[in-house]
Amino acid sequence: MPGAIYAEGLVKTFGEVRALDGVDLDVPEGTVLGLLGPNGAGKTTAVRVLTTLLQPDSGRAVVAGIDVLKHPNEVRRSIGLSGQFAAVDEYLTGRENLQMVGQLYQMSGRDAKKRAVQLLERFNLSDAADRTAKTYSGGMRRRLDLAAALVVSPPVMFMDEPTTGLDPRNRQQLWEVIQELVAGGTTLLLTTQYLEEADHLAHDICVIDHGKVIARGTSDQLKARTGGERVEVVVHQPDQIEPARAVLATYGKGEISLAEHTRKLTVPVTGGAKLLAEVIRDLDSHGVEIDDIGLRRPTLDDVFISLTGHAAELERANGEGGSTRAAKGPKEDGQ
Ligand SMILES: Nc1ncnc2c1ncn2[C@@H]1O[C@H](COP(=O)(O)OP(=O)(O)O)[C@@H](O)[C@H]1O
Ligand SMILES: [Mg+2]
Repeated sequence: MPGAIYAEGLVKTFGEVRALDGVDLDVPEGTVLGLLGPNGAGKTTAVRVLTTLLQPDSGRAVVAGIDVLKHPNEVRRSIGLSGQFAAVDEYLTGRENLQMVGQLYQMSGRDAKKRAVQLLERFNLSDAADRTAKTYSGGMRRRLDLAAALVVSPPVMFMDEPTTGLDPRNRQQLWEVIQELVAGGTTLLLTTQYLEEADHLAHDICVIDHGKVIARGTSDQLKARTGGERVEVVVHQPDQIEPARAVLATYGKGEISLAEHTRKLTVPVTGGAKLLAEVIRDLDSHGVEIDDIGLRRPTLDDVFISLTGHAAELERANGEGGSTRAAKGPKEDGQ
């Protein structure tokens, strides 16, 4: 039996661009699929097709047991959508926006009010509740949009890059909200550019690039394919790059990559902190002076390098620009 979200051979072209190039998906009920990919990979297009907002050129999709192409209106009644671009009414206050959604879903006025208050609190918007949304910062709008998607808990939810543009605290809170939602039985398809986020929230991950699924699996499976953690070493002098490379080669479980201008070598390893201590000793005994060394978990870029042989960074040139990258830091404009 197909899952709560099912797609087969979805194709969507925009002129020359094959935004979706034969995408298959199957998300079992009550689970979270992380659709992971860089800018321009086709994530939003997939979400728009699955949520009836866009007709595919070919392929089939079934959401909550309903054929998306044949019965779009019925599908819309069974899903919630939080878009990459906030769909709030600028001229209503935050509170009014949420109450309006509640009423659209036939909640009583009283219940809609109550739910609005809960959500405003949860997304740190209580202080701004009675200001019109047009006075909100980008981050606040994003949170209002997410709150609007959560007014009712539909059986199937789509969230398109829900945490892009959120500061770390709000991101953490949203993760908690999402986890509760899923614990309540909702099936969720979530798009993200961050492996860390998919790792945290998703049961299964689909990596997409140029409209094609290039890998699927659990986070552990993907990480195993990328060779686990990374040791990153920044050497003090350019002439120490080669000796450092020789030392790292004896520990590495994959290719060593080099960022020449920053004198940074990166190598996949298994073995964690204990191994890191050994590497430091070994570099030292070979006379390699280091400015910095660390162990980090694989990122989307690492997944890409090991799957495609090139960094996801390159792909962003075709997308809408890499602005979402900056979202890693505390970038949200204040309240
Ligand atoms: N309405 C559109 N018209 C033309 N090209 C589009 C349109 N929507 C998306 N694209 C192109 O399709 C590709 C996939 O876009 P998108 O699904 O938005 O990617 P993502 O959400 O993964 O960043 C990109 O190359 C993008 O420029
Ligand atoms: Mg997108």
